[in-house]
Amino acid sequence: MKDALDDLKITLVEESRLPQVDLLHLTFGTVFSDHMFIADYIDGRWQTPEIRPYGPIELYPGAKVFHYGQAVFEGMKAFKDEEGRVFLFRPDKNFERINRSAWRLAMPPIPEEFFMGGIKKLIELDKDWIPDGEGASLYIRPVYIAIDNQIAANASRNYRFMIMTSPAQKYFSGEVKVKIEQHYSRACAGGVGFAKAAGNYAAQFMPTMEAAKEGYTQLIWTDSKTHQLVEESGAMNVFFRIGDEICTPELTDSILPGVTRDSLLTLGRDQGLNMVERKITVDELVDAAESGELKEIFGAGTAVTVLPIKGFGYKDKYYPMPELDNPIAGILKQMLLDIQYNRAPDPYGWRVRVL
Ligand SMILES: Cc1ncc(COP(=O)(O)O)c(C=O)c1O
Repeated sequence: MKDALDDLKITLVEESRLPQVDLLHLTFGTVFSDHMFIADYIDGRWQTPEIRPYGPIELYPGAKVFHYGQAVFEGMKAFKDEEGRVFLFRPDKNFERINRSAWRLAMPPIPEEFFMGGIKKLIELDKDWIPDGEGASLYIRPVYIAIDNQIAANASRNYRFMIMTSPAQKYFSGEVKVKIEQHYSRACAGGVGFAKAAGNYAAQFMPTMEAAKEGYTQLIWTDSKTHQLVEESGAMNVFFRIGDEICTPELTDSILPGVTRDSLLTLGRDQGLNMVERKITVDELVDAAESGELKEIFGAGTAVTVLPIKGFGYKDKYYPMPELDNPIAGILKQMLLDIQYNRAPDPYGWRVRVL
C-alpha cells in the first residue's frame, strides 16, 4: 500500500519564531512550535495532508464543532535524552484512544499514518523547540473536529484532524489540594467520560473555578448517581495509598483510561507493590484519613506525570496527608521519568525513538 504521507505537502515557515521564545520559562500550553499538521476528511475520503506554519484556520461559523462539540483530542509528549535523542512514550495508546473517542462521537477513524506520521514529521521539523532537562518536553496536541457548515443537530460528514506541538516545562507547581465534588458531575454512566471529548473539559471549568475560590487546585470527581465512588481528577487519574495497598478506581465508562495510570500499575506491580484497581468510596477515604491509614494521594497524567496531593477537602473539612520521607509517588515518578528520558532500560517497549 502506498504510504498515505507520500503526498504530504509541506510549507515551511519563512522565519522561525523560536528566537523569541524563552524555553526555560514557559506557561503550559501558551507557546506553539513553528508548524502544524492538517488533514481533512471530505465526502468520505481523507484528503492529502499538509504541514504548514502554525497559524489561524478558516471555518464557517456554522461549523458543527462550534454548536455541538463534536470534537476529540489527545495529549502526549516527546522527551529528549542527554544525547539529544527524542522519544515518544507509548504513542500507540494515544492513537487507540483517539479513535475510541472518535467512535463514541460518531467520527470516522483517523488513519495511523496521519497520527503517527504527522507527529514524527512535526517533531523532525520542530526538534529545536524541545526544551532540555528533567520535566521538560514537547507537548503534542492532536485534535479532531467536525467542520460541516450545517447546523442540523446530527453527525458531521466532514472533519479536520490537526496536530500542534507546544514546548512545556512542569505543569503545576506549588501545593496541590483537591476537593471531592459532591454536587456537579464531569461524566455519567453511558456517557462520554471515557472519551477525550472536548465537552468533558468545558463541563469541569465552572465547578473547578468554584473550588479554586476555596483554595483547591483541582476537583476529584465522583460518580454522578451517588457521588460516593471516586472517579478521577481534572486531567489526571488518581491513586491512593491505603495501608499496604496502592489503589486506583477501576475503569468505567465515565473514567478516562490514562496511559500514565496504566504505566504506573505495571511499574508498581513489577516492583512488588500491591497495585489494585477497584471501587473506592469517599466514606472509605474519610475513614482511612481519620485512622491514619491513608498515607498518600497522587495524580497520574501526561501533563503532570505523577503529582503528589497534599490533602483533600470533603464537606467543609480538610484532610491533610502526612509528610513522608520516601513516598511511593516519588518512587513511581522517578521510574517513569527514567524510562521516558531514556535513563533506564525499557523492558516494556514503551519508548518509541523519533530522532
Ligand atoms: C480526564 C483525564 N483523566 C486522566 C488523564 C490522564 O491520562 P494520560 O495519562 O493518558 O495523560 C487525562 C489526561 O490526558 C485526562 O484528561
